[in-house]
Amino acid sequence: MDDAERRRAADARNSARELRRAGLYAEDEPLWKEDFPLTSAGEEYIQRRQFTRYLLATSAAFAVGTAGAAAWANLQSANHGEAQRIVELDKVANGSEYLFSYPTDKDPALLIRLPDGELRAFSQKCTHLGCVVYYQPENERIFCPCHHGVFEPSTGDATAGPPERPLQKIDIEVRNGVVWAKGMEV
Ligand code: FES
Repeated sequence: MDDAERRRAADARNSARELRRAGLYAEDEPLWKEDFPLTSAGEEYIQRRQFTRYLLATSAAFAVGTAGAAAWANLQSANHGEAQRIVELDKVANGSEYLFSYPTDKDPALLIRLPDGELRAFSQKCTHLGCVVYYQPENERIFCPCHHGVFEPSTGDATAGPPERPLQKIDIEVRNGVVWAKGMEV
């Protein structure tokens, strides 16, 4: 260490002692802080303030992200698939089913006419592992033969067996005596 360096080190130590005298160092501050007076009295305060700003910025980013996701979900259509003619209503008796494909030729679907004449339509794919389900009016259920999954015919809800999710619903409408599919629930 040359003379200039020794002088600078002494100056730094003196500055630290002045800070201690001025009460800016706590009594229990470690000695090395006297030799290396690189901190300032306001450092802790500044760090807290920066942390608070960081927290506010993070919270604001989350809020903006959540609002954006909600807006995007609202813009999305609840259904997908083009309107498609299924069958004449009088060809489907009460308590029977009619098989068709929707929304594409590769998607088997099920139109059910309940005993009271109400219509329901669902994807024919079981929500367990995708087997094809059938309407069993005698048992008042939609049944999956693969693992004996059972669905409620008026709602499509899973009621027994391994499936936990309801069948995917197809929105239908009768126009001039013809049943139409209007879209599939996403
Ligand atoms: S695939 Fe339908 S119950 Fe398993």
